[in-house]
Amino acid sequence: MIRMDKFVIHSGRPLKGHVVISGSKNAVLPIMAATLLADGAYEIDNVPDLRDVKTMSKMLLSLGQHSEYSQNRLRIVSGKCTSFQAPYDLVKTMRASVYVLGPLLARYGQACVSLPGGCAWGPRPVDLHIDGMRKLGAKIDIKEGYIHAHAKSLKGAQIAFDVSSVGATGNVMMAAVLADGQTVIENAAREPEIVALAHFLVKMGARIEGIGTDRIEIDGVDSLHPADASVIPDRIEAGTFLVAGHITGGTVTLHHADAGHLTALIQKLRDSGAKIETGNGTISVQSSGRVFPVDITTSVYPGFPTDMQAQWMALMCMARGSSVITDEIYLDRFMHVAELRRLGAHISLDHNVAVIKGSGQLSGAPVMSTDLRASASLILAGLVAKGRTDISRVYHIDRGYEGIERKLEALGANIHRELEELVT
Ligand code: EPZ
Repeated sequence: MIRMDKFVIHSGRPLKGHVVISGSKNAVLPIMAATLLADGAYEIDNVPDLRDVKTMSKMLLSLGQHSEYSQNRLRIVSGKCTSFQAPYDLVKTMRASVYVLGPLLARYGQACVSLPGGCAWGPRPVDLHIDGMRKLGAKIDIKEGYIHAHAKSLKGAQIAFDVSSVGATGNVMMAAVLADGQTVIENAAREPEIVALAHFLVKMGARIEGIGTDRIEIDGVDSLHPADASVIPDRIEAGTFLVAGHITGGTVTLHHADAGHLTALIQKLRDSGAKIETGNGTISVQSSGRVFPVDITTSVYPGFPTDMQAQWMALMCMARGSSVITDEIYLDRFMHVAELRRLGAHISLDHNVAVIKGSGQLSGAPVMSTDLRASASLILAGLVAKGRTDISRVYHIDRGYEGIERKLEALGANIHRELEELVT
């Protein structure tokens, strides 16, 4: 029996007040996978209470690793793996499960990881992960939907990614730390989550240079040891709340947020009429009451994040005038367009380019979540669409936002969670 919840939102007052940003989903998931690299106890704090964290814990358990979670702290006791298989039923629900490939190969010389398949908005290939492992000396066969990987030992290599990939950079880094010799990754991802993973690996005894740049050098070591970690703030949750403050014409202060991770978004918010002030661990947004149309094009960090594209689209629906949104990272990440149109948005789409004719108003209607960030976009639109908006299938949003309806309610939003149906 699966609970299918929905959010019921009535538009209303501007958001006002303070919100604490949770730990980053996309930082904690690779760190959890990295605990496979050394036996022992790990204490990780500021861990968000998310469905994806639970899924990664289930993933580790299926490999024989035990973890316990309470009050945003995760304790993992890593020991010898009893299995080397990442099964399809887990990988299909969370692509980040593929992060176990590198550590399993590095530590045990074998892994059998299901291909992730697609997601709501299209194919999500892992060819760069596979190429990287092959360059490190792994033998890889793809059969029956699984990546079968073996390596007597991994050898350092020169790896240049044609496309900057967060996941492939993280996976290759976790494989290379125990390889013989030096690995150089060119065109490495520079996202804060990958920087955090690299720092965690160094705390575990890895030797990594060039952290935060697009050229990472890793000198393999014989073994690593456990380490503790504190998860960095979730920059996409922070960005989502900044847009919420602006779209509702409110004044919101974020705590435990890192403005340095959001420079592109903050610039665009200022261009669209929001006043943004940053302090030590805080970011404040104060709307000018007007939303100006501002074009965005997503790119790799530190450019405008693709994970904020859907949320930006909701904001542009409230602007007076036209704006253009181009997603250069995922050319088909536009499942939210059809749902926003149900709320009265005027959006035309041509491949990966959307033109939004902002009318400054939306009207409430029942809509459906299709993926994590599309759901966030619908919540933002629901906060300002006249009348009532029901958003179904909020299990998507529970993957990546910790108690978002409670945080929004505390800021004055009229939003609550209802049981929609029980599905057998
Ligand atoms: C990470 O996904 C994030 N997920 C995504 O956030 C985010 O959208 C994405 O990075 C881009 O920033 C996690 O960190 C768990 P990529 P990842 O490899 O690693 C192509 C969210 O909402 N590519 O950087 O899977 C790929 O198709 C999620 O929190 C290949 O072609 O993304 C895309 O066009 C959604 N081959 C581009 O690279 C590969 O082997 C960037 O993907 C891998 C990727």
